[in-house]
Amino acid sequence: MHKNIRIFDTTLRDGEQTPGVSLTSHNKLVIAHQLDKLGVDIIEAGFPIASKGERESVKKIAHAGLGSKICGLSRVTKSDIDACLDCEVDIVHTFIPTSDIQIKYTIKKSREEVLQLAVDAVEYIKKHGVTCLFSAMDATRTDMDYLLKVYQGVEKASADIINVPDTVGVMVPSAMYKFISKIHDAVKVPIDVHCHNDFGLAVANTLAAVEAGAQQVQVTVNGLGERAGNASLEETVMSLRAIYGVKTNIKTKYLVETSRLVERLSGIHIPPNTPVVGENAFSHESGIHTHGVLRRAETFEPGVMTPEMVGHKRRIVVGKHAGKHAVKKTLHEVGLRPTDAQLDEIMQRIKDLGDKGKRVTDADLYAIAETVMGEVAKGEQAIVLEEVSVMTGSKITPNAVIKAKVHGKQKRGSQTGVGPVDAALKAVQTILGKKAKIKLRDFRLEAITGGSDALAEVTIGVEDEKGNIITARAAREDIVMASVEALVSAINRLMLKKR
Ligand code: KIV
Ligand code: ZN
Repeated sequence: MHKNIRIFDTTLRDGEQTPGVSLTSHNKLVIAHQLDKLGVDIIEAGFPIASKGERESVKKIAHAGLGSKICGLSRVTKSDIDACLDCEVDIVHTFIPTSDIQIKYTIKKSREEVLQLAVDAVEYIKKHGVTCLFSAMDATRTDMDYLLKVYQGVEKASADIINVPDTVGVMVPSAMYKFISKIHDAVKVPIDVHCHNDFGLAVANTLAAVEAGAQQVQVTVNGLGERAGNASLEETVMSLRAIYGVKTNIKTKYLVETSRLVERLSGIHIPPNTPVVGENAFSHESGIHTHGVLRRAETFEPGVMTPEMVGHKRRIVVGKHAGKHAVKKTLHEVGLRPTDAQLDEIMQRIKDLGDKGKRVTDADLYAIAETVMGEVAKGEQAIVLEEVSVMTGSKITPNAVIKAKVHGKQKRGSQTGVGPVDAALKAVQTILGKKAKIKLRDFRLEAITGGSDALAEVTIGVEDEKGNIITARAAREDIVMASVEALVSAINRLMLKKR
């Protein structure tokens, strides 16, 4: 097993093949800069022959002066390869199917013809003095004797690295280990692996390939990619580092930042329970867990992977499983110090809310605590909302105006947005001024009742520059008002916590 593994990121190529994802050239460049900052060794920037725009994007990334090597994808045709060369990429990644099923139904050639095309493509790339990565598409469903013949053929033609794609994600780790071992015994050229996640085994299969001698892994941020996606960069890198003790060039403290950026630009949201970077990856709710974690984090965390290592935050979440320790600590942070009897009553009310199927937001907890303790925080609110007005329509850009008292001073904020909710939320942020550095983290909208006058419940999460996150909820028949009230409530709580 190699001690250093090269990270080949294909977010901008296979990741962009995620159904429903299409990145603008500008956003691709933004992601490429972030991948470079993260420290990926190779960025597969795209498939230049696919369109004029794609070629321009790859070209721009190749000329952006990044430290990562830039790769372009091509079939085994000269026109595809020329398109990559025209972009001046560092690496041309050429591929051809090798499994009988794909040969028969996609390219309709004989095995011999496929082998010849592969060899010719590699020779053509090498003639241009460029690094060549060769992929036998659907390798894991290819007859092994034939596959070895293909890999040995391209090795002889001077391919610099061969990739083993599990194109339809059908491998299991034990089979992958044996598969890669056989190839490793038959060729000297370094081995790269590309696993799809159709059965949720992409990362496990990638790790098995590394155990068997693969030197490079193809991954995507947030596991984006065709169908169920590819092996996730975050999970693969952290498993290599924390479990195997294998080195990569990834600066892991940028993992969450990178994941959030790709989430935002791709529009594909990751579930909260996503390993490493998901909202809940280091969140604890149950009493037993939070009690342990508050004393020593390793009690209910891996220990070899901390939130700091990946740029995340540990969170103690209040819910119906919460224990007294966590609730008390959360309340102390905002200056609320209930007596033991009051704390028991607060706990009871939280559990009642949870039993009714309600998610207990931070704002709910504080409201419950203040009610039980007989404290009313109204006077302490940073923002007191006075007026909200929005204008929207098919011929105008949605615009919102917010009037409010901020720390006792009259303020007015006006903003446009992609819709009335967006404009109103931006207007609220404007009245706080740039110094406030409050980011909207989470926005969830649910219609509680049916019909066009349905009661809409909005839950919003906000984060300050120190990573403190507060969630709050508001329900109204008017979505804009519910959104504004939830945001104002969350900001007020965050300000209180800061103080
Ligand atoms: O899944 C696959 O086989 C691919 C190849 C182009 C490497 O994405
Ligand atoms: Zn793929």
